[in-house]
Order: sequence, then structure tokens, then C-alpha cells
Amino acid sequence: MNTSAFIALALTRPGLVGAVAPSSRRLAQAMASQIGDAGALIELGAGTGAVTSALRHAAPGTPLLAVELQSDLASGLRRRFPDIEVACAPAHEVLARHAHAPVDTMLVSSLPFRSLPEPMRRTTLAALLQFIEAHPTRRMVQYTYQPRAPFELPARSSLRWSLRDVVWGNLPPAGVWVLGGDGA
Ligand SMILES: C[S@@+](CC[C@H](N)C(=O)[O-])C[C@H]1O[C@@H](n2cnc3c(N)ncnc32)[C@H](O)[C@@H]1O
Repeated sequence: MNTSAFIALALTRPGLVGAVAPSSRRLAQAMASQIGDAGALIELGAGTGAVTSALRHAAPGTPLLAVELQSDLASGLRRRFPDIEVACAPAHEVLARHAHAPVDTMLVSSLPFRSLPEPMRRTTLAALLQFIEAHPTRRMVQYTYQPRAPFELPARSSLRWSLRDVVWGNLPPAGVWVLGGDGA
């Protein structure tokens, strides 16, 4: 696992990482348990691949695209998961390129929305809301260390957050939330 690259990034660009360690196995499994019968998966901010690994185990036959901004982490993902597609690019660009992905695509996000630099946060939120709102069957699972939803929705949004799990065994404990239409 590419933990040293992750820690180096956490020290130099803490806002992009929003964590001091990769996701725990329990948190990764809790995220993966929310994918249901999604027809395709796009993982945003795949980092060291902790959640990627849980997704491969939960749904080995489901197409998975892992998105990671940092090139050394993306290279590590390619080495560790040679059978999946890895995009080294900002999440908003990948989502725009995949607007025509299957209607039941699920986003699985570890993006640190509370600490991302503001221009990137705004652009990323706009892209993912547009991606999910394009089809009523699209959803996103996201964790947060705060006792509230990962980010506030615009007043005009038809989407809603639903708290699905709290992983007390993670340090710090993490809430697992699903965003989608009709109460997700
Ligand atoms: C919390 S960390 C990753 C956690 C991951 N589950 C793990 O266990 O390694 C968030 C990751 O999002 C990546 N990231 C931040 N902003 C991004 C963006 N706009 N597009 C794609 N990846 C981004 C960071 O480089 C970092 O690897």
C-alpha cells in the first residue's frame, strides 16, 4: 500500500487529503456495503486504495473507475489494481467526461469536502451534483468525520442525504452517508 506517499501528501497538502491516515478496513467495508446493485462504480479520491480494495471484494464484476489527483498515488493504484481503470485527474473533469456513464452508476467518494481549497470544492460539488441529478437512479456514498452531512446541498437541489452507518472503530469515528433522490 502506498502509505508513505499518502502521509507525505497529508503533511504537504493537508487540505487535499483531509486525513492523517488511509481509510480503515472497517470504514472501507462500510462504504462498499452501500453500493447495492449499482451497474458501475466511480471512486473519487481513491488515495492508497483502501476503499478500492473493499469495492473489488464486494462487487468483483462491476466496472470500477478509480480517480486520484496525485500522480504517485495514481501510479500506486495502477500497480495494485491492474484490472481496473485509474484516472489521474481532478474529479470534476472525470465526471464531465463520463456524463454518459450507465444511469445506475454509483459514486464512492473519499474527497475531503470540508478541507478542499474553495475553488476546487465549488467546481467539484457542481460537477458531482450535475452527474447525480442527471438520472434518478444515480447515488453517491461519502464518509465524514463530522456529526452532520458531508456538505450542504443547494436549496434548489432535489437530492437528499441519508445517514447509513457510523463506524466507531475508525479513528476518528466516521459517518457513512448516501446522497440521492427520494431520500437516497
Ligand atoms: C481522504 S484521502 C483518500 C482516502 C482513501 N480512501 C484512502 O484510504 O487512501 C482523499 C484523496 O482525495 C484526493 N483528491 C483530493 N482532491 C481531489 C480531486 N479534486 N480529484 C481527485 N482526487 C482528489 C487526494 O489526493 C487524496 O488521495
